[in-house]
This record gives sequence, structure tokens and C-alpha cells, in this order.
Amino acid sequence: MRMVDIIARKRNGGDLSEAEINYFITHYMNEEIPDYQVSALMMAIYYKGMSGKETALLTKAMVESGDTIDLSPIKGHKVDKHSTGGVGDKTTFIVGPLVAAAGIPVAKMSGRGLGHTGGTIDKLEAIPGFKVELTNQQFIDNVNKYKLAVVGQTGNLAPADKKLYALRDVTATVDSIPLIASSIMSKKIASGADGIVLDVKTGSGAFMKSLEDSKRLAKEMVTIGNQLGRNTVAVISDMNQPLGYEIGNANEVKEAIEVLQGKRVDDLRELAIELAAHMTLIAGIYRNYKEATDALATLLDNGKAYDAFYQFIKAQSGDTSYIEDLSKLSSATYQVEVKADEEGYIHEMEADEIGLAAMHLGAGRAKKEDKINHGVGITLKKKIADQVKKGDTLAILHSDRDDVDDVAGMVKQAYMIKTEKIHQRKMIYEVIK
Ligand code: URA
Repeated sequence: MRMVDIIARKRNGGDLSEAEINYFITHYMNEEIPDYQVSALMMAIYYKGMSGKETALLTKAMVESGDTIDLSPIKGHKVDKHSTGGVGDKTTFIVGPLVAAAGIPVAKMSGRGLGHTGGTIDKLEAIPGFKVELTNQQFIDNVNKYKLAVVGQTGNLAPADKKLYALRDVTATVDSIPLIASSIMSKKIASGADGIVLDVKTGSGAFMKSLEDSKRLAKEMVTIGNQLGRNTVAVISDMNQPLGYEIGNANEVKEAIEVLQGKRVDDLRELAIELAAHMTLIAGIYRNYKEATDALATLLDNGKAYDAFYQFIKAQSGDTSYIEDLSKLSSATYQVEVKADEEGYIHEMEADEIGLAAMHLGAGRAKKEDKINHGVGITLKKKIADQVKKGDTLAILHSDRDDVDDVAGMVKQAYMIKTEKIHQRKMIYEVIK
């Protein structure tokens, strides 16, 4: 087999066979195929696409390039959740305990990563003492006992994806739906869950800005999951504005805990119940969607989900006094209000600009070496459809420096205010099975 023939087949719009896909991944990982040939293949895929079958085979080859996590010592049907990423997304902290309270084991490996704020693991570290490293046995024991454990990623999961992603990043081939879908799914499948619920965000703060692209990505990922034997469902959810009102690390954890304690943050609660419902339906514990959403709303309202969160934090050595008294969580030195210059209604928000503003305050990492500041972030006071008067506070910046005019300007610019009234945006666009 020759790599040049594989490139030519794809360039001509043909389908690659399983043997060809395995050949290119194996020999690329062994450094027997040079980057320039793989770059050419990535560009051919960018233009000619891949069938559902090819995309699933590519995913399988990437999974097999590294370790896979064996969750079989955990009793019950393991269902994982993955979000394609958005601003203010703290749903894991609600969905995890909610599903655990319903009796489903949640064994989550999460990352740190780059972005507007830290990853799930960074956010959990806002709770002093919380241990993100457990031995395999502790991880399994905690899930069996408390139904929920979250640890930092261990093992060498899908190394072929890591190598391909780095190449795609510098060859303008990231934005290919089959390549994105196989990249995300290779890591999820290697993580070992029996079922996967994907939260595919759409809108100004999402990786996929248009609903059409988000649907295409969701369909591809569902096809891959199902072809590789994982029951997979995708929920397409709105990311035209940040989720909830808090962006940052400690303040996102705080908002999630408040929802677990019964606070009504409508968009966050709706999305958390929706995602949890599909997880419980995959696990087969409720008969239908209505029964699932009703039961999960009750578990939020009666404090059972909060109890599951509390137990999980305690089991991983987190200081629970910070959960009991949320004012103890890190906060920033300065609170700077961003005020409206005009009156009207909020029509649009550039969610990714608000995320970027949080990163400028120190909430996220631009480079792997950057340090996260847990206490800084942004609290939104106004969201889409809200009425504002001139001088009203749009948002509060939590900063450890007082010269934040640049960041305040970014946040102000991110709000589009018009005189006509508008309706709230809907949260859930579609569920793809
Ligand atoms: N996220 C991933 O994990 N992979 C991609 O290709 C794009 C986004």
C-alpha cells in the first residue's frame, strides 16, 4: 500500500477502505509517513468529505492508537456527557450529581485545556483541597459508592488525534466536520462509557456558529458513536449568549451549586435537565422523556442532586465548608461595573467576545503554561430580551487589576441594544438520535 494512492483516491472523491485508514494512522504514528503527505490527505478530506462509515473507521483507528479506559469494574450502565464548548458552561457540575442522584454511575475524566475559562478540572480546584488525581482503584470505588467521580485525564487517549489535530491546526484543515467529529468522538470512545450524550452548542459563542453546521456535526458524531457500539444522542443547544450569569472559575462553580440548592437560573436548569434526561433514558431507568424530566426536576428540587454533589466533593477531599458558605470561594479584588450607554432591549450578545474578556481578566489560558486565576470573571446582569435603561449595569467584572477599561470596552461592545422588544431565545433546538 502507498500513501500517495490513498491521497489520490480521496482527492478524486473516493471512499477509503478500513485497510487504507488503518495503514495511514499506524504508519503516521510510527513516523513512517511524513507530515506533508498527511497534510495533503487532510486537505483532500476537507474538500471531498468522508462517508459515515469512513468517519467511524477513522475514529476507531484513532481510538486504537492509544489506551482505552476500562470502566467494567463499575456497576451499571455508564453514560458520559460531552459539550463542544461554550461560554459559562458549568452544566457538568449540575448534570453529574443529578444523574448520580438518579442512580446512574458517572465516571468522568475531564481536561484542563485552553479557553475562556479553565476546564472542568480547573474549576473544581476552586474548591480548596479538591483532589483531581485518584488512583484507578479509588476512582472506581468512588463511582461505585457515590455514583460520581471526576478526575483529570490519565493515560494516553487517542494519541493519533493529538498528532493529527496539531497538523490540522497549521494546515487550515481544522474546520472539516468529519475530522472534527472523529477527533471529539475518538477521545470520548477511548474514555470507556457505554453511552454518550453530546451537547452540541450553536451560535455566537460556539465552535459551530450556524445551526446547519451544528446539526451536521451532531449527526456525524451520533453516527460514529452508534456505529462503534455506543448509544449516542446529541442535543443541539443555544450558545448565542453565555449560559447562566457567571463566567469564570470559582463563580461558575458557585452558580452551579446555587442551582443545585434550588436557585432558578432558567437556561442552565433547562439544559441540565435536558442533558440528564437523555443520559437516564440511555441508561434505561425511566420509561419516557416526560417521566425522566419530571423525576430529574424533583431530584433537583428535593436536594438529592445537591447531596450527591456534596458527597462527591467530600469523597475527593474538597473542603465542604466552601460549599456550605459560598462566600468563602475565591473572589477578586476589584468589582468594576460595565454600564449601558443607551436604552432599549438586548437583542444579541457576542458570547465569544465576553468569553475572551474573561480570559483577559485571567480566568482562562491562552497557552498551556498560563496560570488560571480562580477568583476573576464576569457576572452578567443583563441577557438577551432584557430591558435596559441608560446607566444600568450590564455586567460586573471581577478583576485583580484596576485598569480594566479595555476589558470593559469589550464587554460593552458585545451587547447589541435596540429599541424594539424581543423574545427570549430558545435553549434546545433539536435532539438527534
Ligand atoms: N475539538 C476537538 O477535540 N477536535 C477538533 O477537531 C475540534 C474541536
